[in-house]
Amino acid sequence: MTILKIASIGHPVLRERARDVGSEELRGAEIQQFIDDLIETMHDASGAGLAAIQVYRPIRICAIEVKDNPRYPYKPNIPLTVLVNPVLTPLSEERFDNYEGCLSVPDLRGVVSRFAELRVQAWDRHGEPMDRVVRGITAGTFQHEVDHLDGKLFIDRVSDTRTLCTWREFSRYHESGFRNTVADVVARWGS
Ligand code: NI
Repeated sequence: MTILKIASIGHPVLRERARDVGSEELRGAEIQQFIDDLIETMHDASGAGLAAIQVYRPIRICAIEVKDNPRYPYKPNIPLTVLVNPVLTPLSEERFDNYEGCLSVPDLRGVVSRFAELRVQAWDRHGEPMDRVVRGITAGTFQHEVDHLDGKLFIDRVSDTRTLCTWREFSRYHESGFRNTVADVVARWGS
């Protein structure tokens, strides 16, 4: 397996719209190896998710996993999920404020309004259809990753730029308040 290089904000690839992946292409050994490398890179960087576009490959694939993540110690766990050609549909107008960060936006966090309940339709890494509902903090993580496939970064969605902060200042001034938000979201939406 190979640890891939992660693109940083300012690189034009992060602003592309990633293209769909064909079912034949997905079954190929090369792309399966790429998906293994994407997962390995996400683990190496302690990301909660990583989109192919973030490793300079603008195709509609992203990986998501939260397992006692040191970057996001308050996030509910999410089992390893690979989404291919995902489509997200909000199931209600309800939203919550999510304090987000991104491996492609080093040392910056900010508050983004996210839908609290989503239908997720995608293929898994073997091309099997997936159709599920995700809620709460987990729904925020899915929206962040799928945004990458459309060339969007979380900072594009930060409506109050006064919430922007470094990771150090997040832990000093904002983390305890956000932990309360997370507890409320988890109590309401279960994740
Ligand atoms: Ni990101």
